[in-house]
Amino acid sequence: MDLGINGKAAFVAASTGGLGLAIARALAAEGARVAITGRRRERAERIAAELPGAVAVGGDLGTPAGAAEAVDRAEEALGQPIDIAVLNGPGPKPGAAAALGVDEIASAFDLLVRPHHALVSRVLPGMRERRWGRVLAVGSSGVTAPLPNLAVSNTGRAALAGYLKTLAAEVALDAVTVNLLLPGRIATDRVAELDSAAAKRRGTTLDEVQLESRRTIPARRYGTPEEFGAAAAFLCSAPASYITGVALRCDGGLIRSL
Ligand SMILES: NC(=O)c1ccc[n+]([C@@H]2O[C@H](COP(=O)([O-])OP(=O)(O)OC[C@H]3O[C@@H](n4cnc5c(N)ncnc54)[C@H](OP(=O)(O)O)[C@@H]3O)[C@@H](O)[C@H]2O)c1
Repeated sequence: MDLGINGKAAFVAASTGGLGLAIARALAAEGARVAITGRRRERAERIAAELPGAVAVGGDLGTPAGAAEAVDRAEEALGQPIDIAVLNGPGPKPGAAAALGVDEIASAFDLLVRPHHALVSRVLPGMRERRWGRVLAVGSSGVTAPLPNLAVSNTGRAALAGYLKTLAAEVALDAVTVNLLLPGRIATDRVAELDSAAAKRRGTTLDEVQLESRRTIPARRYGTPEEFGAAAAFLCSAPASYITGVALRCDGGLIRSL
């Protein structure tokens, strides 16, 4: 299938590793010109050098100003406006809801809503004017079924989902789609770190933790970043033009509800 994004400009937030990098690679394979972003500038440059038409944009995207400035620099380096915006970033620290303080609850909004809102606000007017745009957010299966001990993540991601769902209906007439892609357990550095921390906490081995985790997934394995990237590329494609306002899980069947 031709995804119809050859020559489109894509801004992929936090794409020097993990899910962001997998999405950037999948979009580039379809001919999109990708801005690789992240704090590790040299790594962003190395990745961009491997992908045709890609550019590197270093910097911290964790604040509204940082996110909007990075889009400015990406458009300048690409020499064209952003058609595809992928919202992604680091996950918050684990913690129980009952233990959340005033600052921690506010951090859910600071980390998981405000930078993404700034990025969307920066690219949306151009997309609407040109009557073509794709906004895709990387969420978590916790949006559908809140995950134990991830209170900040569950709270902030639910808020982002509410904002994006509202937005999707407002911009559909301008041919801009707004969707979420929800990973279950995809084998990235972050998941490996979380599993190692769990092994330490429970006094067991990494293998044991991963075996136990795989047992909860009907597919009996973690997803690969490539599988996640392929789903993202489709949602950002031209043929996906009638799919908007959805939260699609990519989780090997982990979440049992419809
Ligand atoms: N993997 C999964 O199965 C899974 C499941 C549920 C939810 N998620 C969520 O999906 C998101 C991505 O996860 P991942 O597994 O890809 O994580 P990861 O492997 O840890 O990658 C995180 C990426 O974020 C970048 N980054 C971190 N802080 C940044 C900042 N302030 N500004 C710009 N870039 C920043 C990192 O690059 P630099 O170090 O270069 O900045 C890196 O490229 C996270 O929010 C995570 O919680 C993932």
